[in-house]
Amino acid sequence: MKLSITGGSSFETNGNSTIYETLKANGVFLVSPCGGKGTCGKCQVKVISGGATVKSYGKLGQQERHDGITLACQTSATSDLHIEIPEHSKLVLGGKIAVSIFKDTVAYLQSYGVSIDPLAKRVSLTLPPPSIQDNIGDLQRLCRSLEEMGITNMRFAHKFVSTLMETLREGGFNTIVSYSKQNDTVCDAISAYPPAHPNGRFGLAIDIGTTTVVVYMVDIANGAVIDIGSTYNSQTKYGDDVITRIVHATEGGGLADLRNTVVGDINTIIDFQCGKHNIESRHVEAAVISGNTTMTHIFWGLNPASIREDPYIPTVNYYPLWHGSQARLAINQQAAVYTAPSVASYVGGDIVTGILASKMHRSPGISLFMDIGTNAEVAIGNDEWIMTAACSAGPCFEGGGIKFGMRATQGAIESIKIDPATLTPSVSVIGGGVPTGICGSGMIDAIVELYKHGIINQKGVFNPAKTPLVREGEDGLEFLIYRDIIQQRDIVLTTVDMENLIRAKAAIFAGVSLLLREAGLTLDVLERVYVAGGFGNSLNIEKAVMLGMIPDLPSDKYIFLGNTSIIGAYLTLMSDTLRGELESIASRMTYIELSVVGGYMDEYMSAMFIPHTDLSKFPSVAAALGL
Ligand code: FES
Repeated sequence: MKLSITGGSSFETNGNSTIYETLKANGVFLVSPCGGKGTCGKCQVKVISGGATVKSYGKLGQQERHDGITLACQTSATSDLHIEIPEHSKLVLGGKIAVSIFKDTVAYLQSYGVSIDPLAKRVSLTLPPPSIQDNIGDLQRLCRSLEEMGITNMRFAHKFVSTLMETLREGGFNTIVSYSKQNDTVCDAISAYPPAHPNGRFGLAIDIGTTTVVVYMVDIANGAVIDIGSTYNSQTKYGDDVITRIVHATEGGGLADLRNTVVGDINTIIDFQCGKHNIESRHVEAAVISGNTTMTHIFWGLNPASIREDPYIPTVNYYPLWHGSQARLAINQQAAVYTAPSVASYVGGDIVTGILASKMHRSPGISLFMDIGTNAEVAIGNDEWIMTAACSAGPCFEGGGIKFGMRATQGAIESIKIDPATLTPSVSVIGGGVPTGICGSGMIDAIVELYKHGIINQKGVFNPAKTPLVREGEDGLEFLIYRDIIQQRDIVLTTVDMENLIRAKAAIFAGVSLLLREAGLTLDVLERVYVAGGFGNSLNIEKAVMLGMIPDLPSDKYIFLGNTSIIGAYLTLMSDTLRGELESIASRMTYIELSVVGGYMDEYMSAMFIPHTDLSKFPSVAAALGL
């Protein structure tokens, strides 16, 4: 049977594969935050002609079903099928995704004052050809030359040695050897190449988020980022947050499922990037993994059970340098795969790389670092000490649990203004054009605008008397943000969305307040506040303060950094000096468990209002709103 797409290609399919699976197998990716489980309702396609069986319509409404819309992950062809993929269902795996604010990564690397010294190194060797007098074996000959260059104790995998005879002779006993250093005494050989075979040398910076996965393909000879790929972490089909994933890994015995899923996501991006840039996967010689403690445990197939059991101790905080084969990545099997060290069960390597990317560990002034992702983590400190804590914020600022929520990527509403006279909203969309959903910064804008104009109250409850744009929807009251007349699709914020957003912002603010209290500090000592997270190119700091999500400080103290985990992974990939700095940051960080220090619930409940029950904590907001 054939599956054909309007304006595109046609693929073989069969009754056992869903449309989603057939498309994915052929490199056509759909938005699929639930990973194909049928619960997120985002993988919509329109059936134009042909027969299909539908297991479930999930969240699709009557009108959508009437218009021929179906969920690709729940639908299989029963005859040749012709479909159309709406813009809002298409997932871009390429560089259009807003993942970092650092456009010139090489300049940012240089700003640390370190030289390029990547995780995978290379050395050129000229070996004396063998003779009757000099008759040692090829491997010993190679070791002898390496030792002459000061490289001792090299370890060689069987695969490396199995092609050594041909490689040395092809190059007339001139060869280039790539290798990684475990520490000052042990090295691992990655590959040997004849010099006449010009090839690039590549590495990967990989951010494994609970909700998204980001991969930078890097030319490690010069630090240039060749491509950026990003996708949803398909593990979301096993649960939105780390706790449900741990439960699945342990009680459900699903560790292998979870591992295969995320490694599959990463390999899909790597294959896509290698194909696009004509890179042989064996030339990808290094990778740095940055993620929270649960994500990195699952990535390596380590049982995460103890992470959620008192006293919350992970198997590993400092990971050995393992290899491409052990990581199951579609790269050189001897490639060096480094994992950013974690601090505790709920403050992972992604926060350590984030702090490296912020440079707060180099400054004597005291700074606050906040990473707002699927969870929120905060850290306070300077070049001598750093205290850190985790807040259970949930995934809504990355689009999870919000009806029209999405990542900060093309098509996302990133800011909203409500006209004071007509109370109608106008939106700005990443990449322009018709919006397909709303990202974290758009949600923050929306709540603040709704509150400023009396459309919601301090608790986020809608006032239907204010405007007809507040209407009864499938899930209770909702506010109409945008109507797509052509696709006949409304983008709304629902009562449930509003409750989730206020809970998330309250968890973040309560975390910051308690950490400051534990450090014995007040807001006025903070020189800088670094805000990280997948908010696209910007986060409107003024609006985030008005919402009561972040402290009421002058906006010039705030620096928005975007995805710091991926930039920190990139810096670690490109410099051994910065890798050392990363490990020193991790060793200096003191973890505070908020649930045991007392007072968390009080702080949280007080923050469940816009901006806060105690307006003295938000003087600029009180003044702006005339309260
Ligand atoms: S409903 Fe199909 S991917 Fe979520």
